[in-house]
Parts: sequence; C-alpha cells; structure tokens
Amino acid sequence: MNTDFLIIGSGIAGLSYAIKTAEKFPDSTITIITKTRSDETNTKYAQGGIAGVWDQDNDSHQKHIEDTLIAGDGLCKEDIVALVVKEGTDRIKEMIEWGAKFDRHEDGLYKLGKEGGHSEHRILHHKDVTGQEIERALLQAIEQYKNIQIINHCFVVDLITQHHLGFLVTKSTPTITCYGVYALNLQTNEIETILSRVTLLATGGCGQAYRTTTNPTIATGDGIAMVYRAKGRIENMEFIQFHPTALFEPGVSPSFLITEAVRGDGGILRNNRGEAFMEKYDSRKDLAPRDIVARAIDQEMKKNGTEHVYLDCRHLDQAKFAAHFPNILEKCKSIGIDPFHQMIPVAPAAHYSCGGIQTDAEGKTSIHRLFACGECASTGLHGANRLASNSLLEALVFAHRCAESSSNIYNSTSFEKNIPAWNTKGTSEPKEMILITQSLKELQLIMSDYVGIVRTDVRLQRAMKRLDLLFEETEELYRSTKVSPQLCELRNLITVGYLIVKGAQFRKESRGLHYNTDHPEKSNLLQNIVL
Ligand code: FAD
Ligand code: SIN
Repeated sequence: MNTDFLIIGSGIAGLSYAIKTAEKFPDSTITIITKTRSDETNTKYAQGGIAGVWDQDNDSHQKHIEDTLIAGDGLCKEDIVALVVKEGTDRIKEMIEWGAKFDRHEDGLYKLGKEGGHSEHRILHHKDVTGQEIERALLQAIEQYKNIQIINHCFVVDLITQHHLGFLVTKSTPTITCYGVYALNLQTNEIETILSRVTLLATGGCGQAYRTTTNPTIATGDGIAMVYRAKGRIENMEFIQFHPTALFEPGVSPSFLITEAVRGDGGILRNNRGEAFMEKYDSRKDLAPRDIVARAIDQEMKKNGTEHVYLDCRHLDQAKFAAHFPNILEKCKSIGIDPFHQMIPVAPAAHYSCGGIQTDAEGKTSIHRLFACGECASTGLHGANRLASNSLLEALVFAHRCAESSSNIYNSTSFEKNIPAWNTKGTSEPKEMILITQSLKELQLIMSDYVGIVRTDVRLQRAMKRLDLLFEETEELYRSTKVSPQLCELRNLITVGYLIVKGAQFRKESRGLHYNTDHPEKSNLLQNIVL
C-alpha cells in the first residue's frame, strides 16, 4: 500500500496532524494507523485539561513560560517553551473550532483549573474527562475529510529504512531515511508493507514498562523502540513522570487517576496519621510540581510503612466537586468510597515519558522523512519534569509544526521502490504465551522496584543485568516465532526499559524526575542524555 502521509497513532497528536495536513493537501492520501480502536489512546484518559493563557488580566505568556521552566528544573529548551506557550492559545482555539467543548461559567467565560506548578488558573477542561471530549471531537472532525482513512487493529512492527534495502545502517550513517513501515494487519494476520512520502510517529507513551501506571495497555513505547532500532536518536528517557495521586486499588491495572485538579480545588494530601505532610517538603505544599509531590509521598509511605497516603476532599464544596469531578465521584462510589465523608487512598503511578524521540523545533527526527510529535517525542519543552497539562498543549503545537514542515518533503519525494516483503522464513506459530506474559511481569517488577521514583547505582546495575537476560530471551523468541502484538510490545518495552536505565546510569546527578541517592546533588553541567 502507498500513502502520501502515514500517521501512526490516533491520539491528539496524530489526529490533529491529519486534519492540518488534509486541509493543506486536499488531493493527497492520508492514512492513520492504530493498533486497537481509534479512540483507545492515552489522550482519551486525560482528566485535568489543557494549559494555555486565557485570563489576560491575571495571567501572561511570561508566567506560563516561567512555570514551565521551573518545573523542568534547568533542562527545558527556552526557545521551545516560549514558542509552545505563545502558539498554544491559537492551537487550542483551532481545536475548539473543530468541535471540542470546554466548561464555561454562566457568563460564557471559560472555567480555568489550576494544577501543581502553575502560578495561575489556566487549564481548560471538560469536567474531569477532558481527553474523552478531545478524542471525540477530533475523530468527528476527521470524518469530514475524504482523503483521510483510519486503519484500526493494525500493529506497526518496524520502520523501513536503507537497512531493508541491504545497506549497513549505523548511528553514524549520515542520512538514514524512512520509506514507510511494516505493519501486522490483525484482521488478516499478515505483515503488510506500507510505503509513504512522509511518516509521522504519534505513538504516545510507555507507562506499561511499570507495574503501576495510569497509562492504558496501548502505552508500550513502540515508536521510541522502533526509532532506536532504526538507529535514530532518543533522549532523556530517565525522566519518567510519576503522577502523585493514582487511586490505590490493589490488583487493578491501569490505575485510575485522581486528577491534580482536585488538589487545585483544595484537596489535601494526608499520611496514615491524618497529617497534612506537604508543608514539610515544599512551600507550595500540595501544588508543588509533580516530581516533588511524588517523592514526598514516596518518602511518607516508606517512613510509615504504608502502601498509600490519602487525598482529603471532605472539606470541599460538595456541589462544586460533583460538577467538576463527576467521573472521579462515580469511580470512588463504585468501590465504596464516599469522598465527602472518607479520604481517598492514593499512591504514585508511572504516568508520562518526558524524554523520547529527539526532534527539532519542526518535529523532524534524526531520520529523514520521519517526524514525531506528542508523548513519544522529546522536543525540549518538558526538560527534567513536565508541568501538568502541558502535554496536550505540546501535542497540538507540534502537530501543527510537523504539518507545516512536512509539506516540503511531500512535494519533493517519491515512493521508494524495491522494498522487500516481510520475511517470515524460519518462524513458526507461538507455542506458549507464558513465555511472553511472564517476561512482561518481570520487566514491570524490575522497573518499578529498581527504576522508580528513587534510584541508586546498585539498583540500576541490577536492573540492567536482568533486562539483559530478558532481552536475550525475547530476541531469541522473536527470531523463531511469527510476530504477534504481544511479542512486539514486550520487545519494545524491554528496549524502553533499557533506554530508561541507561539514561539513568549516565546521569550522575539528581534533577527533576530523576533522583539517585548516590548522586543527590544537581550537576553544574546541563546535559541531555542522547542514546
Ligand atoms: P496517545 O493519545 O497515547 O495515542 C497513541 C496512539 O498510537 C494510539 O492510537 C495507539 O494505538 C497508537 N500506537 C502506538 N503504538 C502503535 C503501533 N505499534 N502500531 C499502531 N499504532 C500504535 N496530559 C495533559 O496535558 N493534561 C491532562 O489532563 C492529562 N491527563 C492524563 C491522564 C491520564 C490518565 C493519562 C494516562 C495521561 C494524561 N495526560 C494528560 C497525558 C496525555 O494524555 C498524553 O501525553 C497525550 O494524550 C498523548 O497523546 P499522543 O497523541 O501523543 O498519544
Ligand atoms: C491530571 O489531571 O492530574 C493529569 C494532568 C497531566 O498529566 O498533565
């Protein structure tokens, strides 16, 4: 199959890029591929909302820029922060024109939420199901464009580069070029060759590398692993963000999020003795940036020997809470917790990957004809720690920038010929799924126990040794077995685990989301770890 623009992923990044590109090139062919249903994305689960400057009286671009830089702890690219914040408001307006609805007061002004690290109220939201509304609006908007097709249940296995034409490709090959992808069509169970002029990776995050995560099962870092295998550049993977307040519900995965907006509206974190502990850790208390709050909770849990802390909402206005957080209220009630009379048990969970596929300000990766945006990309916006609700914003701004800059490539390239079909020689049907499921469990345990919120040199060393073994075993299985999504996801998660551990080992300091007790200070050297 040939398509002018190939988009892997149907979250906010992939869908908004598709709309922009369809408007610009109505005669082109645009194909969106997604590995399950088109609405099953991290985007759909976003709760708190999308940050942007709306209240011109109290807020300003400068304040949003400063908050982002403070959260990023010295590693944000300042030019990228400025452009995302400044262009962000127009991008959100476009999404509203495409049909996304955000909560308003009776006078028509937007209701603006506040979350950790924000100095002002600036978060547009749709109750506590903002992502669901965004996903709905974008998928509906896409329907108007005849030149966009969505292919669901199609798993992209690998990028096609010169490597598949028989050339040796290494990290120092000057122009590695992406010609398209090999994808497993889950309806036919065949691997198809899909060629493109321009490919966009919008494959989202990798929370599934951890045992406890807010991310749905699709978040297995596929795009990041594919780029690494194709010898492209990946950076800052050690900065995995743990959300401080996932609902503590043993045995349930993914974890249900209790949005930070609850603390923005006055929710208070308390330990098992009922003490509000955040004031011991930061003057911003419950609304300090996420890295600080998650570490404080981790410390309280370890000190008190508990598996969770509590979020206290008992003092909040009940009608307001019910209007802003109906989804959370319903979920709590469904498991027998009444937030107006009981505290909600919460614990940190892996939530967001701040690093990823290295891109420039136009969303170009180190591989020619390959762009990346959304959570899988590392644009320089988040530095060592993402400011809450900046992710949806970054995805929108960079989808626009990718659409602008991929135009030149579309106009100047043609489809590559002579790409060989996928070779299944020597592979047979998988015999035992346990070989995959057990390795996945082991990986998630290793990452959670050794590469979590607090790290040490020995833990990282142990994690790497164990990942090496999982890698060997899984590569062996991959060479001899017909590919399946489960096997590919395991393989990708092991690669992502390796990249997180390797980045953490290279970073001999503690900064933002990376905290290593053997190197507790910040280094004077500001560096991005590129692998
Ligand atoms: P996603 O929305 O994750 O989409 C990924 C897509 O890639 C999917 O369609 C998937 O099928 C496809 N894909 C992946 N691999 C393959 C493959 N191999 N083959 C084919 N298709 C593939 N951010 C905020 O800014 N504000 C919030 O309030 C907020 N709340 C959040 C709450 C939760 C519970 C979570 C999990 C995240 C939250 N985030 C929030 C983060 C934000 O939602 C995500 O970072 C963002 O939605 C990512 O969008 P994306 O388009 O990059 O990827
Ligand atoms: C939340 O609603 O707390 C999540 C927001 C985010 O991840 O940006």
